[in-house]
Amino acid sequence: MMSKKIILFLMAMITCIAYAGQRSKVRYEFPANMPDAVKQEYIKQCDKGLALYDINCSGCHNTPAGKRSVIPDFSQDQLIGYELRVKNPKHESSIPETTVTAEELGLIMTFLTYKKKNE
Ligand code: HEC
Repeated sequence: MMSKKIILFLMAMITCIAYAGQRSKVRYEFPANMPDAVKQEYIKQCDKGLALYDINCSGCHNTPAGKRSVIPDFSQDQLIGYELRVKNPKHESSIPETTVTAEELGLIMTFLTYKKKNE
């Protein structure tokens, strides 16, 4: 009797872990012809960009969907305008260069560019 309970418990645990892992994973989309070594480098940059985005941008830009927080799909034009920090005066005060350096912003842009689009 006891062992059956333990097995059921373990199965539930494994399901939870698999589910959580799948949900928290943000995947990226790279051009098909990108060489593997380059891709590995971009994945590292995207991971850093994601962490920086979560800290500096998600508060204003994510939309809640149940327990999830959805990152918007910015267009390439929006990203370029934003990277130059000229398009949006609202950002001047909320995220000046002293908070998000040019290098950090570059990582965030890389992440947003290759982030898998929302369905
Ligand atoms: C204090 C709130 C706030 C924070 C923090 C913030 N934004 Fe924004 N952002 C806005 C608002 C407001 C707009 C303009 C409304 C809109 O176009 O949706 C905007 C617009 C944008 C746009 C679209 C620009 C365009 O040309 O249409 C991009 C891209 C963007 N933000 C990226 C970022 C990134 C990247 C970060 C983090 C480094 C960030 N934002 C942090 C409030 C914020």
